[in-house]
Amino acid sequence: MFFTKASIPESPRLADIRLMDATSLSSISSCGHPLDTCGHAWGELRDSSPIRKDTSALRQRMREEGHLFFRGFFPRDLIARARISLLERLAENEGLFDRTHPLSEGVLVAEIKSPIGFTPEAALGNTALQRVVFGPEIQEFYTRFLGGVVRHFDYIWVRSMGPGSGTRPHCDIVYMGRGTRELYTAWIPYGDVTYDIGGLIILEKSHLQSDRIAKYLNSDVDTFCSNNPERHGWKFGGALSTNPVSLQKKFGGRWLGAEFRMGDLLTFRTDTVHASLDNHSDRLRLSTDTRYQLATEPVDERWVGENPIGHGPAGRRGLIC
Ligand SMILES: [Fe+2]
Repeated sequence: MFFTKASIPESPRLADIRLMDATSLSSISSCGHPLDTCGHAWGELRDSSPIRKDTSALRQRMREEGHLFFRGFFPRDLIARARISLLERLAENEGLFDRTHPLSEGVLVAEIKSPIGFTPEAALGNTALQRVVFGPEIQEFYTRFLGGVVRHFDYIWVRSMGPGSGTRPHCDIVYMGRGTRELYTAWIPYGDVTYDIGGLIILEKSHLQSDRIAKYLNSDVDTFCSNNPERHGWKFGGALSTNPVSLQKKFGGRWLGAEFRMGDLLTFRTDTVHASLDNHSDRLRLSTDTRYQLATEPVDERWVGENPIGHGPAGRRGLIC
C-alpha cells in the first residue's frame, strides 16, 4: 500500500506556498523526447479569462480550439488548501519528501527518481479537494457552458508526478467513452508549475483531425478479446503515441503549454490530443483531472457512484477479435 499509518507531519502554512520563479523553455521534453520550441512547433496557451462570462464566445472557442485555458479561475487560497491537504496525505508515506524543506514545497528525497503516478486515495474524503473540483466555481462554469444541469464523474484522478517521464499523448475518450461524447475534462494544477516541473500540453486543433484517428477514438481501453484474453483493446494502455515530437509533425499543429499557477484551469474535449511535459525538477507535480457533462446525457458507468469500478475487472468488456 502506498499509505502507511505514520503520523501526519506538521501542517505547512499557506504563506509558505510562494510563487515559483519562471524557468526557461530551453530544456523541455515529453516522454523523454526534447520538444522543438520554435514557433512552428510550440506555443503558449491563450488565456480565455477575458471572455469568461461570454458563453457563446467560449463555446465557439472550444469548437475551434478544442480547449479553454483560464488564468486565476479559482481563488488561489482555495487551491493552496487543497495542495496542503494532498501533500499531508502523501507525506503519510514516510521517506517520500525531503523534510529539510517545508512540506508545502513538495521537494522529494533524492532517491525518488520516477513519477509516482495516480494516487486516487488522496482524494477520498478530502473535503478541501472536493471543494475545488465539485465546488460552485466549476459548477457554475459548466452549467453555463453546457446550458443545463450538469453532473460530474464521482471519480477524481489525482496525479502525483515526481521526476521523470510525462504522460504519453492520448485522448480521454478511450478511457471514458461509454456515455456521452459531450464530456469535458478539467485539469487543475495544485502548485505553481514551471516548465522544469512539467504540466499539461495540448496538441493544437487536434480535435479537428478526429477522422484520421477514428479507429483510436472509437476504442475502449477496457475491452479485450474474449477469444484471446491476452490481447487488449488498445496497445500502449490507451496512448495514441509514445513520441510527442513525431506526433506533432504528423498532425501539424503546435504543442501548446504554459507555466501554470495555482488557480488556473484548463478544460478540453475528450477528443483533444494532450500529453504532459517531463518533470526535470526535484519537486512533486500535483494535479487532478475531473469530468463534467449534462445530467440528461448518458454517463459512463465506470466512473460514477460511491465506489466507481473504474478500470477494474468489473469494467472490462469482451469482444470477438
Ligand atoms: Fe488525459
